[in-house]
Amino acid sequence: MQTTESINEQYRDAWSRFATGVTVITTIEPGGTVHGMTASSVASVSLNPPLILVVVGHERQSHGQIEKTGRFGLSILDSNQTGIAKHFATPPETRGRTDPLHIANLAEALPTTPVIAGAIAAMGCRVTAAHQAGDHTVFIGEVEAIRVGDGEPLVWFQRQFGGFTDRNAG
Ligand SMILES: Cc1cc2nc3c(=O)[nH]c(=O)nc-3n(C[C@H](O)[C@H](O)[C@H](O)COP(=O)(O)O)c2cc1C
Repeated sequence: MQTTESINEQYRDAWSRFATGVTVITTIEPGGTVHGMTASSVASVSLNPPLILVVVGHERQSHGQIEKTGRFGLSILDSNQTGIAKHFATPPETRGRTDPLHIANLAEALPTTPVIAGAIAAMGCRVTAAHQAGDHTVFIGEVEAIRVGDGEPLVWFQRQFGGFTDRNAG
């Protein structure tokens, strides 16, 4: 049987081999400021109704804000948005102020959470369930508004940001 330390280390290494897209989960702070958190543990869950899941650590500021507001935005980043991904992956105490130009409204008429401007796709969600799983919570969100844009995805692989390269093309 492996020790907890060696499982933990290999767990991180194993999952670093899993290439993902990069998203930012947005929430609204009590004063109305938009808050963001870079996230790769997200997935599509159901089409009817349209449900997604996001996995958020209990320690994250975003965790309390999702619980309080019952809403979040999810933006799938473009390959030219590495700076935004790094900004929202930095602890909120040290990341500095968010450039308001990076925030956009998804739908004027709906109470949806703002999202990241220039994302290749973005959606506004209402939390319909929250499941505790170890030191994280799996929030299920129903998609209330959605926008699909153009562009190439930002990719996270082996603890680095990069772009998608189709080596099998041709
Ligand atoms: C590529 C990448 C993906 C991440 N994915 C997640 C995730 O899915 N869930 C999570 O809780 N933290 C994730 N993080 C860590 C958070 O982005 C980071 O802890 C952030 O500072 C949390 O912000 P907050 O405390 O303001 O919510 C990820 C970080 C990186 C660099």
